[in-house]
Amino acid sequence: MRKRLAAGNWKMNGTSGSLSELEALAAAHPAPSVEVLICLPATLIERASRRAEGSAIAIGGQDCHAAASGAHTGDIAATMLVDAGASAVIVGHSERRTDHAETSAHVAAKAIAAQSAGLTAIICIGETLQEREAGTTLSVLDDQLAGSLPDGADAGNTVIAYEPVWAIGTGLTPTIDQIDEVHRHLRARLAARGLADIAILYGGSVKGSNAAEIFAVEDVDGALVGGASLTAADFSPIVTALEAS
Ligand code: PGA
Repeated sequence: MRKRLAAGNWKMNGTSGSLSELEALAAAHPAPSVEVLICLPATLIERASRRAEGSAIAIGGQDCHAAASGAHTGDIAATMLVDAGASAVIVGHSERRTDHAETSAHVAAKAIAAQSAGLTAIICIGETLQEREAGTTLSVLDDQLAGSLPDGADAGNTVIAYEPVWAIGTGLTPTIDQIDEVHRHLRARLAARGLADIAILYGGSVKGSNAAEIFAVEDVDGALVGGASLTAADFSPIVTALEAS
């Protein structure tokens, strides 16, 4: 049985006042049949972890450095996330790949750091609109997956998130057939490495109104959700849709 995961990514949103959303989410889902994770700004992780204690909501980070410690001003080590109460971390989000020029080699190094610290690494890959229109989606994803997924990854320490860059925060989503094609393809690539049981999330403009049809796709094991994860009211229906799928 593959992991089923509803993961939220608050990105650079949220201060102390926003933590009540986590409590509302926990109250709405006291015993979910799927994993529920919220990846927070670093400043909120420790407080959120305390507030979520005893609930079914897991807390994650949005990035980590590849090194264990050292002279890297402003960066956060995977062990620091663990110390603050995180159980997972997103690596290689397209916003990091773009804003911070992260390559797949960086992403693989971060994933190794995360896994060594005991975190689940959520490794993001996705094509741009230009790449999709040029018909290179699957080869771009192959390159990103091969470059970003380290040896030593397994279903316990790794999740893949397929996030078409053009669908993130735009309200646009691929067709169900396009999602099916990509997830099926990624499953085959993982299977070729003996990793068919790694969960593959879809991400990009997932909301309560489209979650059920996306989760009906066989190789979609959950979602990585940005905008619609910021409030319990928006995220809860996504959790419910995954539970029902
Ligand atoms: P979105 O973001 O749900 O706001 O499109 C998804 C993501 O970046 O993970």
